[in-house]
Amino acid sequence: MTLYGVGLGPGDSDLVTVRGREVLQDADVVYSPGRLSRTVAIEHVPEDRIGDLDFPMTKDPDELRRAWKEAAAEIAPRAREGTAAFVTLGDPNVYSTFGHLRRTLAAFHDDVDLEIVPGVSAVTAFTTALGVEIDAGAGLSLREAANGASPTGPNRMVLFKVTDAPATHEGLVEAGYDVTYGRRLYMEQGETLVTDDPSDIAERDYYTLAYAEKRGLTTDRATDAFLESTERSEGIEHGDPVMGDD
Ligand SMILES: C[S@@+](CC[C@H](N)C(=O)[O-])C[C@H]1O[C@@H](n2cnc3c(N)ncnc32)[C@H](O)[C@@H]1O
Repeated sequence: MTLYGVGLGPGDSDLVTVRGREVLQDADVVYSPGRLSRTVAIEHVPEDRIGDLDFPMTKDPDELRRAWKEAAAEIAPRAREGTAAFVTLGDPNVYSTFGHLRRTLAAFHDDVDLEIVPGVSAVTAFTTALGVEIDAGAGLSLREAANGASPTGPNRMVLFKVTDAPATHEGLVEAGYDVTYGRRLYMEQGETLVTDDPSDIAERDYYTLAYAEKRGLTTDRATDAFLESTERSEGIEHGDPVMGDD
C-alpha cells in the first residue's frame, strides 16, 4: 500500500503533528533511522511495531549505498503488503536521511507508494526557542556548519550540525555576525540550552544549531514606531501584550 515518511518534530513527543500521530498509530510497522527518533516514535507506537534497521556510522558512499539498499529491501515488501512508516526528526525533507530512502526506493522498488507527513523542523523550532523573529521581507538561508565550518554571505542564516561551536564562532564573528546557539531545542532527551557563548557548548553535541545575523542590520517595520515611543515614555513597561491570543 504505502510508505509514509513522517516528520516527528524536534524531539518533544507532543510536537508530533496530529496527522503524523495518526499515521504512526495506524502503521503496521514503523522504522526509525536512529535512537533519538525511535525514543520519540515509541511514545506513539507500541514497541513491538517498531521495525529493525541497521545503519553504519559511515560517510563512505559505497557502504552508505549498501546500507540503504538493504534498508529499502526490508521496507519495500512491508509497504506493499500494508502500511509502513519511516520517521525522521524534524521534517523529512530538511537535511534528512529520508532522501536516501526515497531515492533508493525510486531506483529499486518504484512500485512502492510514498507519502510524506511534514514535521516541525528545527528551522522553525529555533525561532521560538532562540527568541528570534524573521520579519516579513527578511531573507533566511540554511547552511551546514559541521566540524568548525563557518559559512558566511547571507544576512541571516540557520546553521545545522554545529559540532565545533568555538571554531564556527570565530569565523562568524570575524565575518561580522552575531550568533546565538541552540542545543536540543524542544527535546525530551538531554539538556536544552540557548546561549550566545560558544564556550558553553564547546563539548560536541550533534543536536546543536546556530542562528547567525549580520551585525547592524536595520529593520523597517511599521510597529517599530511603538517601541520608539515606548522608549521615550517613562514608566511604561516593555513587553505588555496588546493582543494576546495567537
Ligand atoms: C540531519 S539534520 C536533521 C534536520 C531535521 N530533519 C529538521 O528538519 O530539523 C540534524 C541537525 O538538525 C539540527 N537539529 C535537529 N533537531 C534539533 C533540535 N531539537 N535542537 C537543535 N538542533 C536540532 C542539528 O543542527 C542537527 O545537527
